[in-house]
Amino acid sequence: MSLPWYHKTTLYQIYPRSFMDSNDDGIGDLQGIIQKLDYLKDLGFETIWVSPFFASPQRDFGYDISNYLSIAPEYGTMDDALQLIEETHRRGMRIILDLVLDHTSDQHPWFLESRSSRNNPKAGWYLWKDKPNNWHSMTGGSGWHYAKERGQYYWASFLPFQPDLNWRNPDVKKTMFEIARFWLAKGADGYRLDIFNTIYKDAQFRDNPFSWKLVPTPDDTSGFFQKTTYSQDQPESFDLAKEFRKLTDEFGEKLTIGEIAARREVLRKYAGEEINDGLTLIFDFEALQFKFTAEYFRRLIADIEKRFPHPFMPVYVFSNHDKRRSADRLGGDFRKAKLLAMLQFTLRGVPCAYYGEEIGMVNLKLPFKTALDPIPHKYTFAPRLLFDLLDVTVNRDEVRTPMQWDATKNAGFSSAEATWLPVHANYEQVNVERQKRETDSLLNTFKSLLNFRRENPALQEGSLELVEDLPDEVLGYIRKAGSQSLLALLNFGQKPRDVNLKSAETVFSLAVGDEAKDGVAHLGGFGGMILSVSV
Ligand code: GLC
Repeated sequence: MSLPWYHKTTLYQIYPRSFMDSNDDGIGDLQGIIQKLDYLKDLGFETIWVSPFFASPQRDFGYDISNYLSIAPEYGTMDDALQLIEETHRRGMRIILDLVLDHTSDQHPWFLESRSSRNNPKAGWYLWKDKPNNWHSMTGGSGWHYAKERGQYYWASFLPFQPDLNWRNPDVKKTMFEIARFWLAKGADGYRLDIFNTIYKDAQFRDNPFSWKLVPTPDDTSGFFQKTTYSQDQPESFDLAKEFRKLTDEFGEKLTIGEIAARREVLRKYAGEEINDGLTLIFDFEALQFKFTAEYFRRLIADIEKRFPHPFMPVYVFSNHDKRRSADRLGGDFRKAKLLAMLQFTLRGVPCAYYGEEIGMVNLKLPFKTALDPIPHKYTFAPRLLFDLLDVTVNRDEVRTPMQWDATKNAGFSSAEATWLPVHANYEQVNVERQKRETDSLLNTFKSLLNFRRENPALQEGSLELVEDLPDEVLGYIRKAGSQSLLALLNFGQKPRDVNLKSAETVFSLAVGDEAKDGVAHLGGFGGMILSVSV
């Protein structure tokens, strides 16, 4: 069995504003990313996903685009973008871009024209109505906004300055498809597709039904007492997934990964029919709110395996630019972070890590009132504690602070006086340089896991079978491809645990002491190991 590259790869998400600043203006940029490609290559990631760097008023830091075919000046030029693609390829790595199909910026010339009157050539490019229905936006409150020029309301799924395009208009669809082709022709290896499930809305704009759910969760955006029955996950969006796959197929094997916050059975519809003819990958967001127990992951994996069996490939992701950082959720405990990394890189699925996750960066608590992210400004009335209790990340600035490269000024991210967001105060302890030197650091654990994964086909493309009858805190699964069978054992408990085995050889240990002897696997607290077994 040999899988397409996009089902075997490892993904690393770069938030360009925060990764590396090459021109000392306090903002990360494309040349900064290029400078750090060797770091990523050495670490062992195979594919980078770069969050949007296109022209934008940056009110949602690039997810509000005003020109899809030009580069935001603070990030660089078209030449820089092409160089980034080329330099990534030169290192044998791949790069996917972030495509926002659902909406543009309200400063995009299409919207300015569309808003100007009811009968201009772009009048039907966005969703205009005389009267709003009951739909709320994904960030809370009505998603309908009045424009006096037309005396009508436009629909915005996310924030008011991000008007949704009207995909039922053939010109819109054609133009957006051309944009998608543009970057593939320039060598991009695929796309991460922003809020893909909101692109089509009910053609009749029927009111959404009531729901008891108060807060949206990463795997289901209904909330604020409303289901998303008519505003998301329409049959036309499932069809679009297939059409989009055909489009990318024109350029060879390209990766498409959908950002879709929906229940798993709905996610599966975006991957297409039995042959996987839709999006090649879909994020599984449930685990962005993981519980650090063997029981939690056993249930999660079992359900994922049921819904996404071969030829589908799941995606395991624990952090991104919208949600709490995984190390924060783990209270900054690196032993736990290592075990989580072992899980992520040994499961059947494409792992996706977020910049800084490899060194255990944690959230920087910042007040809502002065946030650069627009979302918290909607919620300054409510006590912060409430959101923490509800496990909702409102101020996304907290997970977007500059990458911590070393212990020098601004953590080596920039030599500007001030960086766009403050650097986390822990940067002298938590940084790349320091963890490079410490053999048992989280960074080096990432590196050895990535190496181990690349060298072992069973981990990249093998089947997965959960092992029963293990101690409660221990999670175990067998990955099998061809003649290779690997057993992964992970102890989510603080106490050491022993597991009896028939015959097995330790081929990977997470910590000193995690090893098998005389038919017994000894796992330290939060320990893990991989054994070569014959089954
Ligand atoms: C997605 C992005 C998020 C952005 C939103 C609107 O959820 O991940 O950062 O704000 O879409 O484009």
